[in-house]
Amino acid sequence: MTKKAGFWIFLLGTLSSAALFLGLTWDMHRQVDILSRADKLSDTVVAGKKAFEKHNCNDCHTILGFGGYYAPDLTRVVQRVGEDGVRYRIKHPELAFAASKRKMPQQNISDADTENLLSFFKWVGEIDNGDWPPQDSKKRLTRGEKRMAATAGISPGAAVFQTKGCMTCHALRGAGGSFGPALDTIGRTLTAKQMEHYIKDPKSMNPKAMMPPQTDLTDRELKEVAKFLGNLK
Ligand code: HEC
Ligand code: HEC
Repeated sequence: MTKKAGFWIFLLGTLSSAALFLGLTWDMHRQVDILSRADKLSDTVVAGKKAFEKHNCNDCHTILGFGGYYAPDLTRVVQRVGEDGVRYRIKHPELAFAASKRKMPQQNISDADTENLLSFFKWVGEIDNGDWPPQDSKKRLTRGEKRMAATAGISPGAAVFQTKGCMTCHALRGAGGSFGPALDTIGRTLTAKQMEHYIKDPKSMNPKAMMPPQTDLTDRELKEVAKFLGNLK
C-alpha cells in the first residue's frame, strides 16, 4: 500500500464512522421521548423508582438486566405474577417465598411505597425492550416445556414435531404419515433457517407446495422444530 492510499483509507474510514456515529446519536435523541414513553412517566412511577433505590431492591434484582443477579429480573414481573401477586410478594416475602431456598427480606415496605413500586414495575413492563432480558420472551420455551421434553428424553424441537401435527403427513424413522416426504435426512438439503421459511409458508419456497402453512406454531416452536430438523443429517 502506498502512503497516499493509507491516508485515504484512514480519512474516509474515520469520516464515515464519525458520520454514522453522529447520525445514530441524533436518531436516538430524537426518539428518547417515544422510547422512554415520557408521557406515561407519572409522579407515582418516579416515586416507585425512588422507592426501588431507597430499599435497595436492585442489590438482588435486575431491571432490564441491570442490578444484582441473586433474585429474578423484575422487568416483566407484573405480566408474570399480576398486580396482586406483586403486592403480596413485596408485603409478605417471608410467606411468599417460605418454600424457597433464596430469601427476600421483610423490609416493612409502606402501602404507599408498595403502590408506587407497582406503578414503576407497570411502566417498566411496557418498555419495548426487544425481548431483553429474554426469560419472559414468548419466543422462548418455558421451563416447564423444557422439563417435559427432557423427561421424555427428547429435544424441545422433537416434542413440537410429535405434538403439532407434523407426523400426520411426515414420517421419522419409519413412524408417521406418508402424504409428505420422510424427513430423516432433511438437514442435508435444508438449513434450519430455510426450514423455518418452509414450515411457515411452504409456497414461498416451492410454488407447487401442497403442505399447508403451519400457522399455529409460536415463533419459538417454529425455531425449535426447525433446529431439530436441521440436525437430521
Ligand atoms: C436480599 C435480596 C433481596 C432484596 C433486597 C429484595 N428482594 Fe425481591 N426477591 C428476592 C428473592 C431471592 C426472590 C425470589 C425468591 C424465589 O422465588 O426463590 C425475590 C422475589 C421478588 C418478587 C417476585 C418475583 C417473581 O418473579 O416471582 C418481587 C416482585 C420482588 N422480589 C420485589 C422486590 C422489591 C420491590 C424489593 C425492594 C423493596 C425487593 N424485592 C428486594 C430477594 C430480594
Ligand atoms: C397436511 C400434511 C402436512 C403437514 C401437517 C405437514 N407437512 Fe410438511 N410437507 C407436506 C408435503 C406434502 C411436503 C412436500 C412438499 C410440498 O408439497 O409442500 C412437505 C414438505 C415439508 C418440508 C420440506 C421437505 C423437503 O424435502 O423439501 C419440511 C421441512 C416440512 N414439510 C416440515 C413440516 C413440519 C415441521 C410440519 C409440522 C409443523 C409439517 N411439515 C406438517 C405435508 C405436510
